[in-house]
Amino acid sequence: MKDFCVADLNATVSLNGFPCKPVAEVTSDDFFFDGLSKEGNTDNPFGFAVAQGNVLSFPGLNTLGISMNRVDLAPRGINAPHSHPRATESIVVIKGKVLVGFVSTSNVYFYKVLTVGQMFVIPRGLIHFQYNVGHSKAILLTAFNSQLPGAVIVSRTLFASNPPIPNQILTKTFRVDDDVINSIKSKFA
Ligand code: GLV
Ligand code: MN
Repeated sequence: MKDFCVADLNATVSLNGFPCKPVAEVTSDDFFFDGLSKEGNTDNPFGFAVAQGNVLSFPGLNTLGISMNRVDLAPRGINAPHSHPRATESIVVIKGKVLVGFVSTSNVYFYKVLTVGQMFVIPRGLIHFQYNVGHSKAILLTAFNSQLPGAVIVSRTLFASNPPIPNQILTKTFRVDDDVINSIKSKFA
């Protein structure tokens, strides 16, 4: 119906998406995003950083059904297992050597070690990860067929929800004792 619909992030109506900024106010800057150009800070226990170019950071993506992230990984850094409920993800390595993998609903583990320029695809909703198996920093660009793919990070979802999932659910699920669950929870507190 329209060429574009740059999100008006401050509008107050409730929609599944964002209303459009008035066309007369749209400029070339609305179609430009510089947020993936800088190296992320991987100085954390995961050796990981992500910069997200989704509709919230880049309103020009509104209604267009796409978005992109930049992932930086230190050597042995991990983008921990997670899924995107609203998008398939394609991954291209632009620096380094990265093990990427996902597990299907039949519980089959699919994986590949990617080098520069190589691509892998993660079907919608499946749990996946990336791990830097090289000796230097790695950079990946990830592309999604959603303007806001969402991310369910398995460890954070199970061990750092608010309010917390009761220990008895987690001890039964993982068939371990309370102290194991408490120890994991303490690391994500
Ligand atoms: C990588 O898996 C990402 O979600 O950007
Ligand atoms: Mn992902």
